[in-house]
Amino acid sequence: MVHILQLLGNAQSMKKSIVYFQGREVSLSDLTAIFSEKQYNLIETEIGAGKGRYIINLAQRFPTNLYIAIENSFKFFSILTKRASKKNLQNLISVFSDASYFIHTFIPKIDVLHIYFPDPWPKERHSKRRILNVTNVNIFLSKLTLGGTLYFASDFIPYAESFIKVLKLFNVEIQLLDKWEDGLRTNYEIKYEKEKRTIIRLKAIKTSLTPETTCHFIKCAYLELYNKDYD
Ligand SMILES: C[S@@+](CC[C@H](N)C(=O)[O-])C[C@H]1O[C@@H](n2cnc3c(N)ncnc32)[C@H](O)[C@@H]1O
Repeated sequence: MVHILQLLGNAQSMKKSIVYFQGREVSLSDLTAIFSEKQYNLIETEIGAGKGRYIINLAQRFPTNLYIAIENSFKFFSILTKRASKKNLQNLISVFSDASYFIHTFIPKIDVLHIYFPDPWPKERHSKRRILNVTNVNIFLSKLTLGGTLYFASDFIPYAESFIKVLKLFNVEIQLLDKWEDGLRTNYEIKYEKEKRTIIRLKAIKTSLTPETTCHFIKCAYLELYNKDYD
């Protein structure tokens, strides 16, 4: 079931991806060469990086890691790309694309995945548009290396709770966090902390090379279609 939905989802998002690295546009085939360079310690990816505040800070702090910032808003992608280029960052790839399509199709592996304040789609009838559904989480976790970490935050508690339910279908160890280990924050986190909103922060560590083991067909279908458990 997951695989059919995966193909449909990817078919819908087959629009052109734009990729910038070291101040210039690179072709998708150049990416293979960049990913296979041995000079990087870790490959870290941020889904929905906005204007890039968080990932640009990380890339400056850790020049031996490779960072991939994915945005599907052209306006934010352009701001992010200009900022990275002004700072002459050599280790940040900025991508204009749908994150699930791009990760599924072009990224061979991810050591650390960051997803902060994904669009909440708070209305029940829109909740199917959320990026963190069973199909996409399956794609993201399958790219995560063994022992790799996914970091997530949201101020929309029902989304955080449904994401935790989805994560529990996979072989990951989940830890809720009060603060981030690196002390860095995204634009939305700064804004929501000022507003004193409750924020759920978590990290999930991949504990098996087979990401999906407990995802029973009916359970998965229920979570995917109705955003609730099948008892
Ligand atoms: C609420 S903003 C959060 C931005 C940033 N992570 C932060 O915390 O400040 C969500 C971002 O995700 C982007 N986004 C939404 N769906 C996406 C997708 N399928 N692929 C890539 N980016 C996406 C939006 O354009 C938006 O910039």
